[in-house]
Amino acid sequence: MADLRKEIERRRTFAIISHPDAGKTTLTEKLLLYGGAIQLAGSVKGKATARHAVSDWMELEKQRGISISSSAMQFEYNGYCINILDTPGHQDFSEDTYRTLMAADSAVMVIDAAKGIEPQTRKLFKICAMRNIPIFTFINKLDRDARSPYDLMEELENEFGIGTYPMNWPIGCGIDFKGVYDREKREILAFNEFHRGQNKIKAIECSLDETEKLDELIGSRLRQTLCDDVELLDGAGYEFDLDMVRSGKLSPVFFGSALNNFGIEPFLESFLDMTMPPLPRIAGDDIVDPFEDKFSAFVFKIQANMNKAHRDRIAFMRICSGKFERDKEYFHIQGEKPIRLAQPQQLMAQERAIINEAYAGDIIGVFDPGIFSIGDTICDKSKKLEFEGIPTFAPEHFAAVERTDTMKRKQFEKGIMQIAQEGAIQIFHEPFTGVEEVIVGVVGVLQFEVLEYRLKSEYGVDVRRRSMPYEVVRWIDNEDINPRDLNLTSDTKWVQDFRGNNLLLFTSDWCVNWALQKNPDLRLREFNRD
Ligand code: G4P
Repeated sequence: MADLRKEIERRRTFAIISHPDAGKTTLTEKLLLYGGAIQLAGSVKGKATARHAVSDWMELEKQRGISISSSAMQFEYNGYCINILDTPGHQDFSEDTYRTLMAADSAVMVIDAAKGIEPQTRKLFKICAMRNIPIFTFINKLDRDARSPYDLMEELENEFGIGTYPMNWPIGCGIDFKGVYDREKREILAFNEFHRGQNKIKAIECSLDETEKLDELIGSRLRQTLCDDVELLDGAGYEFDLDMVRSGKLSPVFFGSALNNFGIEPFLESFLDMTMPPLPRIAGDDIVDPFEDKFSAFVFKIQANMNKAHRDRIAFMRICSGKFERDKEYFHIQGEKPIRLAQPQQLMAQERAIINEAYAGDIIGVFDPGIFSIGDTICDKSKKLEFEGIPTFAPEHFAAVERTDTMKRKQFEKGIMQIAQEGAIQIFHEPFTGVEEVIVGVVGVLQFEVLEYRLKSEYGVDVRRRSMPYEVVRWIDNEDINPRDLNLTSDTKWVQDFRGNNLLLFTSDWCVNWALQKNPDLRLREFNRD
């Protein structure tokens, strides 16, 4: 028991979020580097090598140079066991990101110092705020020209409505970048080009009164600015308050340069100090304590064919309590069956390793023979519980998809069903029409391309896609209504999902209102609760 507590207490599980190109991949790799999980000499390698090896899976991603799938990586640092959840940066994959954030206890937000808040950061932030996830901000690329740090902080506060607390403060930027001043330790971390790739940079203790020493280090102009800035920061702005940080109301802000390995280690150390071990999770009326010895976990992501040679499908689960043991029999709540999890594995930087045990806070991937869905609970047989489901977002784009080869019906049905189970797309059909087309709904249009690509490369099926004009989908809540009897506009379509639930596809919100007005008993839902 003592061991269990110790193991869980040293776990930290966080998601790393950013707008594409802000430096998320670079920061992740540097963190792994400190943990000794990867050995990259010097600065980060080109995108074509290191970055794809670490976090990208699919050919399509390589072609497009974007990270579509999110993955989890584990590394050790100073006695901590750290799980990083990588999130896809592309805006079309926000639903996937949302699920990933459900598995995290905190988030690190990477911001480009020249750009500030960008659309994707804004969206991701909202999701974190909704769940009160503590957010740590890393303002990156100070080695380049940057916006004023005051501006950046103000933008964060105004846009996100939370407080910010700069843990360190930049001294110049671009070619003038001299380093950062650590506000708590009152010391300077000096930057020079030779730091590129160096693992540790020794901080220089230096009080702001030591004018001569400072002038030598950063020059008199920047010294004067720094002294004024620190005085201003100490006098105005938020007080540091750990409880506010932990409840997601105050974001500690760090300045640095991921590419130059600058400011990463102090960031990691502070972050580990401030974050909490795995937090309790809600399961119906129960609050599941992570330290209790009974294992429980939920599936937050399913990914097929991560390794083409094996044609495998992996369900990623976040362990919420206790200890996981390989070969032990657990219970799959939604499948109502006992289950042994085959080939449990974790991703250690580039490599997947089969594991024998894992603890609350950890992310494990298990082989999925097609039985899991997003949100499923797996738990100890003697203590059955069910974690709250992860809501499905209503798709906003629709297309009719059919196979072009009449011989490939089975492969088509299997492929589209499996991809739907992963949560990448939602599928519907028109009941009682005999039409073989499948209506596919997606949150972002890029998912159509991913679908076509995967059907072809993984299932050998060519498809034809026809865009449909629908923009809004609603599930019909009434059990006793026959959708055929509803009074609807002519461009509204009645469909069913693969569980047989009735839905309506509308071309606009106006049509939704029309339907509600003309059918006073009709109750519509935006999310599917199953
Ligand atoms: P992302 O995962 O958030 O999309 O960003 P990524 O780490 O891939 O970084 C995007 C680009 O920004 C990369 O350059 C990367 O080298 C650069 N970068 C990251 N951190 C810093 C930094 O602190 N300073 C500077 N100057 N650049 C930084 P790239 O040219 O697009 O790719 P690559 O060929 O260098 O990999």
